[in-house]
Amino acid sequence: MGARLLIERVALLEDIARDAGTPVYIYDAGHVRTQYRALIRALSAVPHRVFYSVKANGNLGVLSVLHELGAGADVVSIGEFVRARRVGFRAADVIFSGVGKRLDELRRTVRDGIGLINVESAEELGHLADIAAALKLPVRIGIRVNPDVKTKAHPYTQTGEADKKFGVPLPQVLDLVRRALAIPFLRLESIGMHLGSQICDPQAYVTAGSRIVDLVAKVRSLGVETLRAVDVGGGLGIRYTDESALEPEAFAAAVTPLARETGLTLFVEPGRYLVGNAGVLLARCLYRKKALGKAFVVLDAAMNDLLRPSLYGAEHHIQVVGADRASPAEGRERVDIVGPVCETGDFLGRDRYLPAAQPGALLAISGVGAYGFSMSSTYNSRPRAAEVVIDGERWAVARRRESLEDLMVGERTLDEIEAADAWRDTAAAEFETP
Ligand code: LLP
Repeated sequence: MGARLLIERVALLEDIARDAGTPVYIYDAGHVRTQYRALIRALSAVPHRVFYSVKANGNLGVLSVLHELGAGADVVSIGEFVRARRVGFRAADVIFSGVGKRLDELRRTVRDGIGLINVESAEELGHLADIAAALKLPVRIGIRVNPDVKTKAHPYTQTGEADKKFGVPLPQVLDLVRRALAIPFLRLESIGMHLGSQICDPQAYVTAGSRIVDLVAKVRSLGVETLRAVDVGGGLGIRYTDESALEPEAFAAAVTPLARETGLTLFVEPGRYLVGNAGVLLARCLYRKKALGKAFVVLDAAMNDLLRPSLYGAEHHIQVVGADRASPAEGRERVDIVGPVCETGDFLGRDRYLPAAQPGALLAISGVGAYGFSMSSTYNSRPRAAEVVIDGERWAVARRRESLEDLMVGERTLDEIEAADAWRDTAAAEFETP
């Protein structure tokens, strides 16, 4: 049951809204399973491994579903690593990616026996050499390459072009490999890439893939005998409104040649594809407003709950729960769906034709299972929403709504600082004036 079907289950949504409150994220575990199995099926012609990209949705309930399915995890911080471990992912089944891994993050993941660290720079390789030598532990590394390929995704989510911060530029890779070869304890197991997100046209994978195949041959010619995998990253585009999704079969046709031509296991790191359309955000209409020819529906959800429309101009399907979908055009009104946050950029949908929503009505926003809650914040001191998982005929709160107390955890007033004798002397810090 994807998000669109979930929206049709009016009584269930009303129950959840009543019991868990709004705004609330709702994820359908069944949809995640369906997506995972379709991908595995499509890739079955070659040895492969799916590492779920935790940044898309790190809810422990959702992570448990992927763990049960047998996925590995792709993490980008120690926080995501800890989440993955909490639901039972073995460290060996985790890939650590990211352009700015901190020393403490590298140390901790190496100590715990992480499966693969995708190195992005010579400096990072240096840190790993030191850590491995100090801990006397083997470290499995991959090199994330920047293959210099453009995608048609939003500019903020393109990562595979030469002028982006991500990956090691192609011309620098062999040098990095030579360095890695000289470092005891390091084992180069993977060559990888990640081209960007919401990619609907498989051509970018084909173009970049052939560069990776050439590169693997050159890497081997340097004497590397430890390669095990070729990692094509994530990025599979899904259908939000009317775009055509990148279907698993088309994706597989574009990337399986990499495995065949190199004889390596194919690693993939999907996030959005697995969870995006498993999620809806349920919110209540608080007010209706009219201003200079514009009509607004003010919800109790806002840009702090779902940032994608404000940040990327992303379009998510929005529906008034229980309103007849087939209601005639004249029964609808053109409205902006906005939230209570004090920014003009706080909108969840603009110029939408919807059946009139009165205060108290429930609205459902689809396609928010990926990069919805995970990008939410407490801006305007708004406690973050609850998260609910539906599994077959059952549902449960998998993350309770944040409380007002949660908002201030770890903070203190000046009186409390005084009482704790926590002031430090600014003059005690040494500094040089320029
Ligand atoms: N692997 C790496 C190294 C990544 O950086 C990402 C996403 C993925 C895998 C998973 O990509 P996916 O399959 O989900 O496309 N906040 C943006 C998306 C940013 C994606 C960042 N990296 C959005 O809401 O569209």
